[in-house]
Amino acid sequence: VKAVDGISFNIEKGQTYGLVGESGSGKSTTGKSVVGLEKVTSGSILYNGVDITSEKNRKKLNYNRDVQMIFQDSLSSLNPRKRIEDIIAEPLRNFEHLSKNEEKMRVLRLLDIVGLSADALYQYPHQFSG
Ligand SMILES: Nc1ncnc2c1ncn2[C@@H]1O[C@H](COP(=O)(O)OP(=O)(O)OP(=O)(O)O)[C@@H](O)[C@H]1O
Ligand SMILES: [Mg+2]
Repeated sequence: VKAVDGISFNIEKGQTYGLVGESGSGKSTTGKSVVGLEKVTSGSILYNGVDITSEKNRKKLNYNRDVQMIFQDSLSSLNPRKRIEDIIAEPLRNFEHLSKNEEKMRVLRLLDIVGLSADALYQYPHQFSG
């Protein structure tokens, strides 16, 4: 099976890119390949000039800190047993070394950016609209 064939595009810093095509044309496979969830059998994917189809290169660049998937369906991608505070803090805990207080300030600031108040901290995903 050739899940994706003959595809080539560039995405510049700050650019939003939409990939459109008929069902089965390889959009999801392309997206998964870009974040490293699918193994690429030929061709290359360059990030700042470095081929990130190699896991070694992804590790070296800390690629998975910079490039991540945001899944469409929030209810199936957010852990239903975790409070919003911990869900938002998880990547910070993975990639940054913040004090408890700094972490809380960051989470509150991120909530504020999307118009949510501090009440949201202790709520679970199902308590929000989609
Ligand atoms: N793991 C796999 N093994 C074999 N074939 C696969 C695999 N994953 C995808 N395919 C096939 O590769 C092609 C591309 O699939 P892909 O899911 O990337 O398409 P898509 O553009 O995202 O489609 P849709 O619009 O339906 O989401 C399809 O023919 C699909 O059946
Ligand atoms: Mg798809």
